[in-house]
Amino acid sequence: MKASRIILLALLAAVALLLCAPGSALAGGSDPETGFRIPPALQAVTQTSVGMMWETHNSDTGVIKLSVNSNMSGAITKNISSNIKRHEVRVTGLAANTLYYYTVKSDGETSAKGSFLTALPKGTRMPFRFMVYGDSREAPWYEDIVAKYGDNDDHLPCVVSMDYYAPDFLVHVGDFVYDGNDTDPIYNFFDVEKELLANNPLLATYGNHEFSGGSGSGNTLIDSWLIPAPGGTFDHYSVNYGNVHILVINTGEGVWASDNFDLLKPGSTQYNFIVSDLAAAKADAGIDHIFVSMHAPPYSAANFGDNQTLINALEPLFKTYGVRAIFMGHEHDYQHMVHDGLHYILSGGCGSPIMDFPWKGDQDDTHANLIKYDDVLNYVIVDVSGSTVNFQARKVAGNGSSSSSVIESFTLYK
Ligand SMILES: [Fe+2]
Repeated sequence: MKASRIILLALLAAVALLLCAPGSALAGGSDPETGFRIPPALQAVTQTSVGMMWETHNSDTGVIKLSVNSNMSGAITKNISSNIKRHEVRVTGLAANTLYYYTVKSDGETSAKGSFLTALPKGTRMPFRFMVYGDSREAPWYEDIVAKYGDNDDHLPCVVSMDYYAPDFLVHVGDFVYDGNDTDPIYNFFDVEKELLANNPLLATYGNHEFSGGSGSGNTLIDSWLIPAPGGTFDHYSVNYGNVHILVINTGEGVWASDNFDLLKPGSTQYNFIVSDLAAAKADAGIDHIFVSMHAPPYSAANFGDNQTLINALEPLFKTYGVRAIFMGHEHDYQHMVHDGLHYILSGGCGSPIMDFPWKGDQDDTHANLIKYDDVLNYVIVDVSGSTVNFQARKVAGNGSSSSSVIESFTLYK
């Protein structure tokens, strides 16, 4: 045997020993890192429960501690027995309208202490605040666009600004990431939003980019990191919070106004759900305000224009059942339209590039229904107080700065 062959075999043997050694990066499939890959992210809070998602580098069980005291005295412990990396837990048995502090221990790490407020009982007319935002996705498409507008460097300044105004919960109107089947952007999303989601439960709305880059096969992975409201799916669900009802619907993979939204055709499963859900909410004496969250806008003064399919399918229902306002995204800007008394509030662009799409030219900001338009990084604060709802749209400076200012404020009454 030639000397070089002997040296090669010796090297291979040494590598094999390394790979099999206890604690090795590859032995048994364990990760060289330990602890949280995604720290606890709160989702879909109710009067008596909250969703908690976390992911660790290595499979492990979990221990949740909950206390109504900020020093965690008197904490109750909930042991999560599943020995897995990604936990999606619904913590139940909570009291309504109660501020809870919590920690999670898993894979050898204890999370920073977070907190959340459980939902007000239905019919309660105490003040509360939620925020609407969306289109937080990165933009890995045309190099010239990324060069001009950056990647999603504005995502963090936007959520830092939101966190400052301390909502009770969040409504994301969709397009979390560029491709909902690509794991790297999903990890990036939760990394950017980890501080916000540690203390503010999220309500998720599907955007077209949740489906394979906006034009995929209909499959999506991102719902493996998201927790629906109890009894719901991400296609369509609703929640009650105090005297507010929020219906969340799925406008699917459609990108363009000309797309055929089968999901919303009369007689479809989702359409029937919308009808029965809105009818029940309107008939409920405890509900003063009905809101809808959906990704693709029926009306738009910008790139995608009006969508007659969405208008025809949904606007009659919104009018019949007294919907107060409709939250939307898809466009990377802020738009406030009013049509037949319905307020359409588009808040896209909490991280996505604010821009004209190169194939569409300049936006048309002369739309007949348009009340306010601003081509900026933005989100909306919604303050509910009994029969009154105040909306404040804010723009964020971006480019590393989370300073913000008012785009517009307006108030709606029951
Ligand atoms: Fe979109």
